Amino acid sequence: MKLKICILWVVAFGISIGYNKLQSRDTPNRYAFFTPAEIWKDDLGNHINAHGGGILYHEGKYYWFGEHKSERSNAALVGVTCYSSSDLYTWENEGIALPVSDDPESPIVKGSTIERPKVIYNAKTGKFVMYFHLELQGKGYEAAHVAVAVGDRITGPYKLVKNGRVNAGKWPMNMTEEQRDSPVKSTDFEKWWTPQWMAAIKDGLFVRRDFEGGQMSRDMTLFVDDDNKAYHIYSSEDNLTLHIAELKDDYLDYTGRYIRVEPGGHNEAPAIFKNEGRYFMITSGCTGWDPNAARLLTAGHIMGPWTLHPNPCRGDDAELTFHSQSTFILPVQGKRNAFIFMADRWRPQNPIDGRYVWLPVLFENGLPLLTWFDKWDLSIFEQINADFPSPGR
Ligand code: GAL
Repeated sequence: MKLKICILWVVAFGISIGYNKLQSRDTPNRYAFFTPAEIWKDDLGNHINAHGGGILYHEGKYYWFGEHKSERSNAALVGVTCYSSSDLYTWENEGIALPVSDDPESPIVKGSTIERPKVIYNAKTGKFVMYFHLELQGKGYEAAHVAVAVGDRITGPYKLVKNGRVNAGKWPMNMTEEQRDSPVKSTDFEKWWTPQWMAAIKDGLFVRRDFEGGQMSRDMTLFVDDDNKAYHIYSSEDNLTLHIAELKDDYLDYTGRYIRVEPGGHNEAPAIFKNEGRYFMITSGCTGWDPNAARLLTAGHIMGPWTLHPNPCRGDDAELTFHSQSTFILPVQGKRNAFIFMADRWRPQNPIDGRYVWLPVLFENGLPLLTWFDKWDLSIFEQINADFPSPGR
């Protein structure tokens, strides 16, 4: 009898612990919903440290890679972090995927700038390939390099393979002969931001300037299409113009085919997804750590032409993208029309306290729409997007 009571008690206690863990918002270990911009703890009880991140779904699990940030500095003092999850709410700390180096000669020496890391998987080579924005230590944002690192295991360790500018000696596919051959040089302009200068920028002034040394690459993302072709999308030309560059089959280099998107449009923080054969990109303007209004672009083909649409955000603080800046758009596995807009609410004075703003992508007349939710979960996609028409072409 005593034993029975004891067993019953243990079972009841066990159930109540399990229940509390699932229900309580404060337990660090388990969540059952998203609360944008709140502290989001990993399995160790620490606020997730994966800023400017991106997610790769692989063999039944999501892996979130991001910038490790510390209390006082935005520089890379630790490296690229990795977290894993099977439900997107609760994340396990998988440690440092790409550590910074102690070697002062290394481009990724402690104190360099490592931003917006993204990882993709190459089924042909069996390698995980990480791209990130790299700035060399002590040189501000002048290098504008992309860096490539490779890992045998998804959680790392990743090893730096190379870094540098992009597509040296190659012209964008959508720059005309006339634009390529134009004699106008950046040194012809004493002043920036005049209408003449802007017209010259649109005509490829900085593409010509950087032709030999390679195009600048700052804020960035990666995208793998249904045919397994991968693309690097980055802010180039002093952040004035986005480029989309096709990668070779091993994802380690460029094919030389690339396009300019919105010349002179000042787009940063590109995040892209594809739905029903159509491409959607959400970007930000260029105001550093301060938020601004998001932009929406669509295309029928990744290599363009791309069409600019109005700000996809609605409601309070829509003009500031709900005080955040895009970083990635995640397709939710196994659901139709289910994408999560991932953004950063930066805290440049205390970078480690930067928050994550994850919102469901809703569709209206075939175009993505973002609105604020204090709290939401994945069932929203069944309730809302199920009734939305597929995005039109
Ligand atoms: C933002 C950019 C961030 C970081 C920051 C530095 O515009 O999106 O990734 O580079 O500027 O000021």
